This record gives sequence, C-alpha cells and structure tokens, in this order.
Amino acid sequence: MACKYRCNWPWSFIFWLLVFSVFSITGKSTVLATQIRRKLHDEGSFISIDCGLSEESGYTDNKTQIHYTSDAEFIDTGTNKNISDKFISETLHRTFTKVRSFPEGKRNCYTLRPPEGKDTIYLIRAYFMYGNYDNLDRQPQFDLYVGVNSWDTVKFENATHVVMKEILHVPSMDDVYVCLLNTDMGTPFISALELRHFHNSSYRTQSGSLALYKRLDIGSTTNEIVRYNEDSYDRIWFPYNLPNCSVLMNTSFIVDSLKNTEYRLPSMVMRTALTPKNGTDSLELEFDTGDPTLEFYVYMHFAEVEKLKENEHREFNIKLNGNLWNESVVPQYLHSTTIYSKNSIRGTKLTFTLHKRSNSSLPPILNAMEIYIVKDFLHQPTDQEDVNAITDIKSSYRLGKLWQGDPCAPIHSWNELSCSYNGYDAPKIISLNLSSSGLTGKIILSFSKLKSMQYLDLSNNSLTGPLPEFFSQLPNLRTINLSGNRLSGAVPSILKEKKMNGSLSLSWDGNPDLCLQDPCKKEERNLLPVIAAIISSIFLLIIVSVVLIVIWRRRCKRMPAAQQAVGSFEVILKSNNKQFTYPQLVNITNNFQKLIGKGGFGTVYHGCFSDGTQVAVKMLSLKSPQGSKQFQTEAQLLMRVHHRNLAAFLGYCNEGGCYAIIYEYMACGNLKDYLSDSRKDPLSWKQRIQIAIDAAQGLEYLHKGCKPPIIHRDIKTANILLNEKLQAKVADFGVSKFFPTENDSHISTAVVGTLGYLDPEYYISSRLNEKSDIYSFGIVLLELITGQPAIIRSHQNTHVVQWVSPFLAGGDIRHIVDPKLQGGFDIGSMWKAVEVAIACVPQVSVQRPDMSYVVTELKECLEMEAACEEIPGTDDNMLKSNSLLEMNILNLGTESGPEAR
Ligand SMILES: *[C@@H]1O[C@H](CO)[C@@H](O)[C@H](O)[C@H]1NC(C)=O
Ligand SMILES: *[C@@H]1O[C@H](CO)[C@@H](O)[C@H](O)[C@H]1NC(C)=O
Ligand SMILES: *[C@@H]1O[C@H](CO)[C@@H](O)[C@H](O)[C@H]1NC(C)=O
Ligand SMILES: *[C@@H]1O[C@H](CO)[C@@H](O)[C@H](O)[C@H]1NC(C)=O
Ligand SMILES: *[C@@H]1O[C@H](CO)[C@@H](O)[C@H](O)[C@H]1NC(C)=O
Ligand SMILES: *[C@@H]1O[C@H](CO)[C@@H](O)[C@H](O)[C@H]1NC(C)=O
Ligand SMILES: *[C@@H]1O[C@H](CO)[C@@H](O)[C@H](O)[C@H]1NC(C)=O
Ligand SMILES: *[C@@H]1O[C@H](CO)[C@@H](O)[C@H](O)[C@H]1NC(C)=O
Repeated sequence: MACKYRCNWPWSFIFWLLVFSVFSITGKSTVLATQIRRKLHDEGSFISIDCGLSEESGYTDNKTQIHYTSDAEFIDTGTNKNISDKFISETLHRTFTKVRSFPEGKRNCYTLRPPEGKDTIYLIRAYFMYGNYDNLDRQPQFDLYVGVNSWDTVKFENATHVVMKEILHVPSMDDVYVCLLNTDMGTPFISALELRHFHNSSYRTQSGSLALYKRLDIGSTTNEIVRYNEDSYDRIWFPYNLPNCSVLMNTSFIVDSLKNTEYRLPSMVMRTALTPKNGTDSLELEFDTGDPTLEFYVYMHFAEVEKLKENEHREFNIKLNGNLWNESVVPQYLHSTTIYSKNSIRGTKLTFTLHKRSNSSLPPILNAMEIYIVKDFLHQPTDQEDVNAITDIKSSYRLGKLWQGDPCAPIHSWNELSCSYNGYDAPKIISLNLSSSGLTGKIILSFSKLKSMQYLDLSNNSLTGPLPEFFSQLPNLRTINLSGNRLSGAVPSILKEKKMNGSLSLSWDGNPDLCLQDPCKKEERNLLPVIAAIISSIFLLIIVSVVLIVIWRRRCKRMPAAQQAVGSFEVILKSNNKQFTYPQLVNITNNFQKLIGKGGFGTVYHGCFSDGTQVAVKMLSLKSPQGSKQFQTEAQLLMRVHHRNLAAFLGYCNEGGCYAIIYEYMACGNLKDYLSDSRKDPLSWKQRIQIAIDAAQGLEYLHKGCKPPIIHRDIKTANILLNEKLQAKVADFGVSKFFPTENDSHISTAVVGTLGYLDPEYYISSRLNEKSDIYSFGIVLLELITGQPAIIRSHQNTHVVQWVSPFLAGGDIRHIVDPKLQGGFDIGSMWKAVEVAIACVPQVSVQRPDMSYVVTELKECLEMEAACEEIPGTDDNMLKSNSLLEMNILNLGTESGPEAR
C-alpha cells in the first residue's frame, strides 16, 4: 500500500523561528557552487525593505548577506513603531522588531520601481508580525493588494504569528504598488517587504499571478529552510520529511553545477530526495485545499541522486487525483527536470501519486515541489493618460500624502476623485473634488487631459491666474466650480456661452478679479484679440453660409419636384414667422408628392423651401387636438429646442384642421431605410455605435436638458435621420406634446407610438415617462446590432427582443450580430452594446436605466471598438475577445438594470 502524507499543516508554524537561520554552508564543493551562482545573478535587482526602520539606516543581514533598507523612499505615509519588548528575543529576526503602521487613509501603498521594468516576472514577498506594537493587544486584519488587484487577506492567530505572503507577478506598469487596505478591522501594518526579479519567464502562466501555496524541499538532511544565497532567486524552501514510509536519498555532488537551468533550482534542495521505503510502493502526496474554487499551478522538480548501475533504470508516471498527469518521468543524474501543469488544476484535494513503471527497476523519487494559487487579476489599472495627468496635478499642487497607488482601482480609490468602472476597460477619472485643498498657483493644463471628466470642483482654494479656456474642450464636463479663488482676467466667451445654454454649470463667484463683462473693460489689451476674433468669425460665418447654400441648392436641384416649389414663398425663411399656411405646405411638399415616413403620430413628406432648404413635413393625424391655441404655444416652445442631435424644428402649420410641423431634412434619410437598403454600403460597427450615441444624446437632451422634460414617445429607426456624414439626429420629438396623455379615450383606442417599439408598461398602464423612450431606444439599438427590424416578419412576427433572448442566454452573440458586419467588430464592444440594449428593455420601467447611463456606456463601446481598430487582429486581441465572450455570458445570466458603479 502507498504511504499517504498529509500536508495540510499550517506551514508558517516553524517559520518565524527558522526563516532566517539558513543552513550554514560547509564543504569545498558548495563554496564553488555558491561562487558560480553569484555570477549568475546581479544582486542589484533585489529590493529589501525593513519596514519601520528609521531613515538612512540600512543593514546587511549576517546570514543571508541581504541588504535591508528603510522604507523612506518607497512610501510617504505611515508611522514607525517598535514591537513590544516582551516579544523581542535572540531568535527573532531584526526585521520583525519594527513595523510601519498606517492609522490614516483607507489605502496605503509602497511604490516599488525595479530597474527591469514591467512585463517580467517578479517575486514579491511581504512579512507581518504584530508583536503588540500598538499596545492594543488586538491583532488587526486587513487586505493586501498588488497593483489594483486583491492579493490576499492578512490575519493573525496571535501576537508572534509571522504571516508571510508571496506572489509571482508580472506587472503591466513600471511601478509596482503593494498596498495595504484598511477593511475596518484594525490598523494595517507591515514588517518587511521584498522584491526579487526572475531573469527567466519560467513561471509564466496563461493568466494571472501565482500566490505561493507551498514550496517544499522534499527530503532534507538538515531540516532547515533554504533561501538566498543558496537559491539565487531567493525563493524560500521549507524542509519536508516523513521518515515513516520513505527513505531519504542524498548526494554530496552538486546538482546542476555546470548548467544554469530554467528554474535555477538550488543544489541544496535538489541533492536530496525521498523515495518509498518499500521499493514496490508508490509515492503519494496529498494536499487538502478545502476550496473547490481555487486554481493551482504545480511544479515538481526531479534529479537523479544515485549513480545508476548498468542494469538499473528509474522511470515512473505521475497521477493527479487518479488521472494520468505525466506518463513518463526519467530523472537525469545530477541534472534537474521540472514537470509542471500546463493548465491550472482544481480540487478540494490534490493527490499526487508517483508510480513506478513496469520497465523500471527502481522506485520513484521526488526532490522538490512548488504549488501556487492562481490569482486572476482582472482589474485594470487606470487609463495611462489619466494617470499621467493626475500625477502632474498631484506633484504641481503637492498632494502627495493624499494620493497613492492607482487613482481609480481598486474601488477604494483616492477620496477626492471618482472613476468610471466598467468591466474590462481601464477605469477613467470622471470627477475630481479638490475643494478647500489649499491649492495655489495657476490652473495647470493637466486638468484638460482628464478627457472623461464630468465634474470638477476647485472651489475655496487660492488659485490665481486666468480661467483657462481649455475647459470648453472637455467633451463630458458638465460642472465646474471655481468659486472662492483668486482668479483674474476675462472669462473665456466660449465658457460663458456654454453656461448660458445650460450645457455647462460653471460657478465663479467669489473671484473678485475675474472680469465678467463682455467685452472685458478692465483689460483693454484683451480688446484687440476679441475684435479680431469677432471679425474673423463673421468672415467664417459668411463663408460657411455661402458654402452651405451652394450645397443645399445643389441638393435640391436633383429633385425636379422641389424645383417647382420655388416661387411665391421667397420670404418664408427670412421672416421670423415660422407659421405656415396649408397652401404653403402644399407648395413646399409639391402637393405631398413624396412620402418619406409614417408613424403613430402622422405622415411625413419631403419638402423644399424656396431657398432650396430641404425639409420634412409631418402632417399630424390629430383628430381632437387640445385646441389650436395650445398647439401653437407648444410649437413655439419646441422651436427653441436646439441640439446637434435633434433635427431642427423649422416651422409649423396650424390652420383649419391642418396641424403640421416642419423639420430639417437630412440627406441620407432615416436609419430604418439605410439599414434595410441593400444597395447602400452596410454601416460599419463603429458607424452604428456612433449613430446610437448621437441618437442617445439627442434623447438625453430631451429628457435632461429640457424643462419640463420632453418625452419623445415614438423613438424608432425611422425617426433617426442621417446627414451626409452619417451623423444622426432624432426627428419628430415633441410631437407627443400635441397628443393628450393619461386617461384620455384617445389613448385607449389608437396606438400612439409604433408597434414593436412601444413600451409594454406604457401600453398597459398608459402612464408615460422617460423610461418609455428608453425601451424604444433599446429596440433601436438591437436593430443596429442585429440588422433585423423590430418585428421580424420572417419569423412569424417575432419581436426582436424575443428573437435575441435565446441566443444571448446561450452566450451566442455571433449568431445575432448583423451578418453584414462580416465579423468586423470588437467582441467586447459588441457585448457591451448588447448589454446596454438588454438593460433598456425590461418589461418594468423602473428597471431601465436613464439616457445618461446609455450615452456613457455607448461611448465606452465606441472607445473599445476604436481601440480594437488601432491594433488590427493580433492574436492577443483574439484572446482578449474570447475571454470577454465567455465572461459576459455570466453577466447576462442575471437580468436586471444597470448596477450603480
Ligand atoms: C501563534 O500562532 C502560530 C500560528 O498558528 C502558532 O504556530 C504559534 O504556536 C502560536 N504562538 C503562541 C505563543 O501561541
Ligand atoms: C552580525 O555581524 C556583526 C559583525 O560581524 C556582529 O556585530 C553582529 O552581532 C552580528 N549579528 C548577528 C545577529 O549575528
Ligand atoms: C524603537 O526602539 C529604538 C531602540 O531600539 C529607539 O531608538 C526608537 O526611538 C524606538 N522607536 C519608537 C518609534 O519608539
Ligand atoms: C511514524 O512512526 C512513528 C513511530 O514509528 C509514529 O509514532 C508516528 O505516529 C508515525 N507518523 C506517521 C505520520 O505515521
Ligand atoms: C547522504 O548519503 C550517504 C550515502 O550516499 C550517507 O552515507 C550519508 O549519511 C547521507 N547524509 C545524510 C546527512 O543523510
Ligand atoms: C530561460 O532559461 C533557459 C535556460 O537558461 C533558456 O533556455 C530559456 O530560453 C530562457 N527563457 C527565457 C524566456 O528567457
Ligand atoms: C513491499 O510491499 C509489498 C506489497 O505492497 C509486500 O508484499 C512486501 O512484503 C513489502 N516489502 C517490504 C520489505 O515491506
Ligand atoms: C512529461 O514530462 C516530460 C519531461 O520529463 C515532458 O517532456 C512531457 O511533455 C510531459 N508530458 C506531459 C503529458 O505533461
């Protein structure tokens, strides 16, 4: 029978006694080996920090010859503390006598900058021993992070319990952050921190970093820990012996003396091995992991330590949990071989069995073994550009103590800012609150590099200098608070304009030197450039108008019908009166000759103004309007709604039973026709997302920018118009205002809105709100994704939501995507769009997001797609796409609205 060794003992038990008492080297051959090894690596890449050591006082450890430094250059925060005297003893290593503790701040980070930079393997090791340093007699518990990802939780059994955490990590940034996160279970502290560079990529995995589970020196003649400088990588090997059913084998020769193997295994570890006592037995090792979710990587190291005779042969196979793991292992004499898992393995119990093969005369041996837990580091560090900008801001305004580590990730980011988090994209900074932070000096340009910023508060500081114009270039910026500073000079007109039209909420009160007049009288010198600017913009305006008129005329000339319309209505556009008579409509539309759309609210005709401007005329099918006076009021109100993603409202007709509204006409017609027209070049995925964003922004403006909000009520592809550049505008908005809502008999008899786009809740309850538009927009989005109409006729009138659902449930996205795209899209972007669409269409309106959310998400889709286009079709990209594909399947399982992030 095989011997079973249980290995589920807490491996730190002998650690603090033994960790630094390295086996002292004796014998000439070993000295030689050490010399060879010394040459093989440069100690310069070691970072060894004795945390809590006072500044400028480093020391070299007598036994390991490792030089420890203070943490002064690696961290700004925390305080140095001594552990309680009663725990200090001869055997306790020096690094444990002091700690650095972090009573302030949620997160405190060491910044390590190894000279080898990113994308190479490092061993990072952190040590903790409480030693009642704070006299509270209560061991804290806290989290340890590497970069932006959770590495482990640190907890203690007692005051002298040494906790060591080790990880093999490939950083994606040059700075490696090791962070302690306060989880409200006591003050975090640290005793020592080490970083080692592995010159070889021998421990690379398919994904994730490797946290140490066990590293065993199997068969040890000394029962001592082995580390540097026996191990040139400074791995720490724990002795592992079980005399009852195995025999220790050893050699006095050096293993791998002449060759530098991939794993650079220490000879001290490799020259000893275990073999079963009874030669017919197998060697079995069992590990109780207790957690089925953990994934492991295993490395087994072998080297023959016996000089075999002619007729002797050692060959064995390895089974893992009963399954063949490696068919045939033949250890080489004094040369190490490593067998490792190519993929991660799982199991609450890992049982390795080494079986002698039938052709073998000798039993199996095992020299050393390592087991690691895979840490899937899914979180991305913050967008590099944002990091650069905020780092500049941090150093310019000396905010060092406040801000450490990555700005956005993990979620407990810097207090003063917040970020957009979404799945697998790098987080971006969206708001920054530096109110009352003692900022002095000018507002630096770096603020303009935070491209995703929506909210900026710099109030109540001592900022001087001008109010910079660059704020106007931040596309998402909605709020700036600059009040209570000492800014001077003129407020840039573009900012004033944005403030006036409500697109930017800008506060500048309490800046006595800021000049608000226009032109700014205080600063005469500024007058000249202002005048120059005015003159040049007038010129520009004239040129643009001329060009536009020429273009419009050309366009209309292509339509002979429109030509006839030119005649008695020369004055129409010039006059301010946007009210048209019925005969005028007849003329404009050439007697309603060209029908371009039909919906719940009426019929749309193509028309042409006398000056050549093409228009769309919507004849409202109002049977019982609320009265022509109210119609007129509403129409005039709507004429004031301006947004670049809303088709401009040019006029109306309100005359003897004729109710019509006139919109801007767009050259490329409506989205519905464009999607279904096989003669047109199919829209690319990027174009589709852009169209979706445009429409969403138009809708967002109706919901958020208008007071009271305007509910469109008839969002559909036919109401999304495209200009020659394929920019989209929402048409037909405000029409619902002409129709009575709630409890009106009109509703119950007529379908208002268009079948397929109609919010099911509204249909049942007749209660209308913005969320009805969200539903319709979700359908539009699904049409853009699938290329299918809202109601798919060929599928026995299947609604597009019903059609996609089974595919999505199965995680099959490619099947629903419009074949016309021919696979030309970033799968991550596509999934995101699908998720947004699905989030828009729950039956219950409260579960739907609002338009701002949709806009933000779609913009991220666009960024993903754009980013993907920059690196066309690399293998990496494919890999990323595939993993995204799998992960999103899980996300879709829970049908719900968007979560607050
Ligand atoms: C402290 O805890 C460690 C780890 O569990 C244990 O090995 C050690 O014996 C404990 N020491 C005391 C003094 O209880
Ligand atoms: C280390 O060596 C120095 C000088 O060689 C000696 O003074 C010190 O006591 C030694 N420390 C230990 C812990 O052995
Ligand atoms: C820690 O102990 C050393 C002496 O061993 C002393 O010089 C130092 O001031 C102490 N530090 C603190 C923070 O108490
Ligand atoms: C090993 O053998 C000794 C005595 O022979 C026994 O006391 C001990 O419990 C055994 N250990 C194991 C793990 O079987
Ligand atoms: C090493 O192995 C030899 C036989 O090869 C044996 O004589 C010696 O005692 C062993 N050394 C130890 C420390 O076990
Ligand atoms: C690692 O080292 C081995 C042996 O020195 C070498 O063959 C291998 O190419 C190295 N791998 C890398 C990625 O450098
Ligand atoms: C070795 O094991 C086999 C079967 O497990 C047994 O028959 C044999 O007697 C054992 N030999 C010794 C020396 O214990
Ligand atoms: C088994 O180990 C050998 C090295 O001894 C290696 O070449 C082979 O790929 C391994 N086979 C499997 C299935 O892992």
